[in-house]
This record gives sequence, structure tokens and C-alpha cells, in this order.
Amino acid sequence: MFQNLVHAKIFQSYIEQSQFPTAPSNLYDPIRYILSLSGKRIRPMLVSMGTALFDEKQVEASLPASTAIEYFHNFSLIHDDIMDKAPLRRGKQTVHQKWNDSVAILSGDALLVKAYEELAKCPADKMVPLLQLFNRTALAVCEGQQYDMDFEIRPDVSEDEYIEMIRLKTSVLLGCALQMGAIIGGAGKDEQELLYDFGVNLGIAFQLQDDLLDVYGDPNTFGKQVGGDILSNKKTILFIQLQKKLQGNDLQLFEHLLACDVQQEPDKVAKMQTLYAKYDIQNIGLALKEEFTALAYDRLRAISVEESKKDQLFSLADALMHRQQ
Ligand code: IPE
Ligand code: IPE
Ligand code: MG
Ligand code: MG
Ligand code: MG
Repeated sequence: MFQNLVHAKIFQSYIEQSQFPTAPSNLYDPIRYILSLSGKRIRPMLVSMGTALFDEKQVEASLPASTAIEYFHNFSLIHDDIMDKAPLRRGKQTVHQKWNDSVAILSGDALLVKAYEELAKCPADKMVPLLQLFNRTALAVCEGQQYDMDFEIRPDVSEDEYIEMIRLKTSVLLGCALQMGAIIGGAGKDEQELLYDFGVNLGIAFQLQDDLLDVYGDPNTFGKQVGGDILSNKKTILFIQLQKKLQGNDLQLFEHLLACDVQQEPDKVAKMQTLYAKYDIQNIGLALKEEFTALAYDRLRAISVEESKKDQLFSLADALMHRQQ
């Protein structure tokens, strides 16, 4: 999606040098596999762009931080796919499907350790703030993932609780990527915070788009199973909005769909999609996504660097909000 950006090319040549042992193959093959699938690599882009915003010359020095974030992200995806029982990732079989859950757990763990190995290569004089930020973020992602799982079996999740859950599971990592870049680029505390807040608001909009794509994505380009969130009763923005609006018999149909798995109700996804359409839920999701995108842009505008330096972040953000994968 962003392969032609200069930052993407620099990152690609750095990460291609990564070597993983050949044995045990069931530990390292899944790592090679997930890293070879064509992810968008947006988090490393954010690290590089965050660095370049303050000091172009430090981009090279930020590559280990980019790699650490991308490894952490891929680790979280391997485990997330077990938790979400997902069959597809980036258009290919998920690690736990291709191998099994035990292999996916352990290779994910090893990839997390590899993330820390990369982190240790970051500029020594910035190591403490980088490590503190990374650790705080990694733990927040775990918290978000636990809320996401807890919410599957809770019928009364509010919109605020949902936003907080996605802030934790998804957004803080985007904020972290940008702030790590800002730290390496030598930004002051205030500018670091503004850039972090840009990332967090962008991340919320990004997860809203992810939830929308899970229902409305084109199976040929999305790369994940369309309808996966419906099958596991995920509390997405669409679910929460629909639940608030349902009337009459639709309420019973909704309750019935929630109580059934796909064996009991083979049309669970299609029927839920029909309810979403009937209550025009997609537009509510889109409007909320726009709100968070606007909040993100405000933060980026407030950063006091030359305006032209922000262009690449604005265009990346814009592309992400209109992505189809
Ligand atoms: C997927 O992230 C997980 C979410 C936070 C929604 P991406 O959409 O960035 O996944 P890849 O790396 O491009 O596959
Ligand atoms: C994933 O959220 C967030 C993390 C992996 C931490 P989702 O479960 O919605 O991500 P996808 O849709 O599987 O990529
Ligand atoms: Mg998932
Ligand atoms: Mg998940
Ligand atoms: Mg999703």
C-alpha cells in the first residue's frame, strides 16, 4: 500500500537483513512467514516520519525502533488471531491455522523477545525514555486485548467503554511509534505529546475503519475474514450503535443471532449485515471516524515545525482512513 514511499523502502531494506535461525523450524518458520506477508507497515512509517519531522538526519538511527514496533505488532497479531479464531491474515492462513495454537503462542513469544532485541539497538542516550514508553504501551495493548475479549460475553458495553478499549488495544501503539520517532528526532516534551496524541486519535479512527471493513470489506482485497467480528459477537462501534437503535421484532432477531454460532445459524453474518443496513449503521461509524480524524489533524497542526514537514504524515493519515485493507 505504501511500498513506494522513501521511508518504506529504507525500512524494507533494513528489515530484510533480519536473520532468524533455521532450527527449531516450528519456532522460526512462523516468524519468517508472518513477516513475509504483505502488511502495510504503517507503524514503522510512523516512527520514521515522527523522527523526520524533527530531524531528518536521525531517520537511519530510528530503524531499530521501527523494527521493534513492527515485531511487536506482528507478535500481537499472531496471538490475536488465536484469540479471535481468525482463519485469514493478510490474505493467507493465520499462523495458528497453518501450524497450531502451541506453535503460534511460542513463535509469538519469540517475536516479542526479538522486538526487545531490536529495542536494545536504539540510540543509547535515548534508551530510558524509549524503553519506558515501549513498556507502558505494550502493557496497555494487553489491557485492551483483555477488554476486547471480556466484552465478547458482555451484552451492555457502552460507547465510551468501547472507545477506551480500542484506544488501548490499537491506538496507543500508533502514538508510541510516533513518539519514539519524536524522541529519536530530539523533540521536546510538548511536541512529543502532541505527536503522541495525533497518533492516538488517528489510531482510534484507524480501528473504527478496521471495524467497518470487518463488515463491509471486499473479501478479495481485505485480507481477513469478512464478518469475523459478527461471528464472535465483538463489541464494535457498529454493534453498539445497532443495539441502541433496534426496535420491535428486530430486537428478537438480534438476540437470536447473538445466541447462535454459525452451525446453529449459518446466515448469522448476512442477517446481521441486513440489520446494520436497515438502521443505517455504517454512516454512524463513518461519522465517528471523521471526528477522530479531525481531532488527530488538530494535534498535528499544533506542532511547531515547518508546515511542509507535516505533509507526509497528513497524506499517510488520509490514505489510512480510506484504506480497503
Ligand atoms: C491490524 O493492523 C490490527 C489492528 C490494529 C486493526 P494493520 O491493519 O496495521 O495490519 P497489517 O500490519 O497492515 O497487516
Ligand atoms: C487487533 O484488533 C488489535 C491487536 C492486534 C492488538 P482486531 O482483532 O480487530 O484486529 P484484526 O482485525 O484481527 O486485524
Ligand atoms: Mg483480530
Ligand atoms: Mg482482536
Ligand atoms: Mg478487526
